[in-house]
Amino acid sequence: MFYKTLKRFPDHFLWGASTSAYQIEGAYNEDGKGLSVQDIYETPEGITDFKDASDHYHHMKEDVKLMAELGMKAYRFSIAWTRIIPDGDGEVNAAGIRFYNDLINELIAYDIVPVVTMYHFDLPLELHKKGGWGNRKTVDAFERYAKVLFENFGDRVKYWLTINEQNVMINHPNAMNPGKVPSKKELYQQCHHMFLAGAKATLLCHQMCKGGKIGPAPNITAIYPEKCNPADVIAADDWESIRCWLYLDMAVYGRYNSLVWAYLEEKGYTPIMEAGDMEILAEAKPDFLGVNYYATATVSASKNDGTDCQPRNGDQQVMIGEEGVYRAGENRYLEKTEYGWIVDSIGLRVTLRRIYDRYHLPLLITENGLGAKDVLNDDGTVHDQYRIDYLERHFKQAQLAITDGVDLIGYCPWSFMDLVSTHQGYGKRYGFVYVNRDEADLKDMGRIKKDSFYWYQQVIQSNGELLGI
Ligand code: BG6
Repeated sequence: MFYKTLKRFPDHFLWGASTSAYQIEGAYNEDGKGLSVQDIYETPEGITDFKDASDHYHHMKEDVKLMAELGMKAYRFSIAWTRIIPDGDGEVNAAGIRFYNDLINELIAYDIVPVVTMYHFDLPLELHKKGGWGNRKTVDAFERYAKVLFENFGDRVKYWLTINEQNVMINHPNAMNPGKVPSKKELYQQCHHMFLAGAKATLLCHQMCKGGKIGPAPNITAIYPEKCNPADVIAADDWESIRCWLYLDMAVYGRYNSLVWAYLEEKGYTPIMEAGDMEILAEAKPDFLGVNYYATATVSASKNDGTDCQPRNGDQQVMIGEEGVYRAGENRYLEKTEYGWIVDSIGLRVTLRRIYDRYHLPLLITENGLGAKDVLNDDGTVHDQYRIDYLERHFKQAQLAITDGVDLIGYCPWSFMDLVSTHQGYGKRYGFVYVNRDEADLKDMGRIKKDSFYWYQQVIQSNGELLGI
C-alpha cells in the first residue's frame, strides 16, 4: 500500500543501541566473576575468545560518555549472571552488583534509559556442569538471580528482557553447550525450562519493580515460501512456527503453538512437564516484545527423501533445512552480506507487521545491524557508508511499519561498539564505535567514532526526520 504521508517516529522514541556482556566486557575472571559457558568456549583457530572482548569493564565511563555524545535515548545491555552470582545459585558477588549499579547510574545521569537483558547466552559454567537448562533446578536458580536483579536495580531499571534469543539457543545450540551438543529431545526439554524461567521472572518483575516492564527478546524473522506453490507455503508456515511463533506464543499466550506441538509429537520431542507448569506460563504476561531482526529466510517444501538438510554452514540466520519439515531456498530478489546473511529491509516491515498483528503488544527492536570487516584508516577515520546505507533502509521500513499501525517504541541497532561476534570473532564488526584491537593483538583498545556514529547522531537529533521519507 502507498501512503500519501507517513507517520512520524513517536516522541520519546527509544533510539538506542545494543550489546551483550560477554561480547564486550572482558575481565572474564576479575572481581569475583565466575566462569560462564562462553568463557571456556573453544573458538576456531585464528578467532579470538571472549576473555578480553572490548574491555568495556575497564572503559565503562568512557563508553557511556560516547553513548551520550551519540545522543542515545536507550542502551540495551546484558548483565553477566556470573558477575552477580559467580556459580549461578550460590553467594551474591558485591563487586558485580557495584559494577552494574555504577553503569546504570552513569546511564541515568546522561538520561539514557537502561534496557537490561537478564541472560544473553552466558549460562554460569557451574550450572552447566549440573545439567544446565536440562536440569529443572536451573529454573529456580534463574528465578533467584532475577530476584537479586530486581532487588538491586529494579528501582531504576524499567525495561527488562528475560532471555536473549531462546530460539537461537535451541536451534543453534553448539556455542551454549560446551562438551556435548544435546539431542533435539534434550533441547526441547531445555526450552520448556527456559519458558518457565522467563515466566517466573516476568511474574516476579511485576511483583517487585514498580512501573517495571518486561518481555522476551527472540530472534524473529519472516519466512517466505520460495514459490507460490502451496506446498512451499505450508513449509514456510511450519518453519516460521517452529523457529519463531513457538517462542512468542508461549511468552504472550502461555501455550504451545499447535503446529509446533504436532511437530514435537511427530518427532518424539515433547518435553516432560510438571503439574502447574502451564498455569505459570499462562499467568505471566509480557508488557512489550523485544525483537532481534537481521534477515528473512526463504524455504521450500520438504522432499522427505533424506536430502532436506543441506550440508553447508548454517547459523542463526542461514537456514540449512530439516528432514521432513522444510528445505532451505534461495531468494533471487535479495542480496547477501559478505558473511552470507540476507539483507532484507522490507523484510523488517513484514516481520514487524506479522508480530504486531499476532500479539498487539508494543515492540522494541533490540537488535539489527550489519557485520562487516571495517578498516581503520591511517588518519583515524572509519568509512562505513555500507552500514549507513543498511541502517537507513531499515529505519525507513520501520517508519513504514509505524505508519501501518505497528506500535514500535524504539530501535536499538546491534551494536553500540565493536564486539566479539558469536562466530566470527573480532573480524566481523557491528559498532558505531570502532575498537582498536584485532583477533590476536589487543593494541590500545582505543575508541574511534565511525562515519555511522556521526550519521546516527543526526538521525537521533532529528527524531528520524533526517531520513526524509
Ligand atoms: C544475535 C545475538 O543472534 O546476533 C548476538 O543475539 C550476536 O549476540 C548477533 O552477536 C550477531 O551475530 P554474530 O554471529 O554476527 O555475532
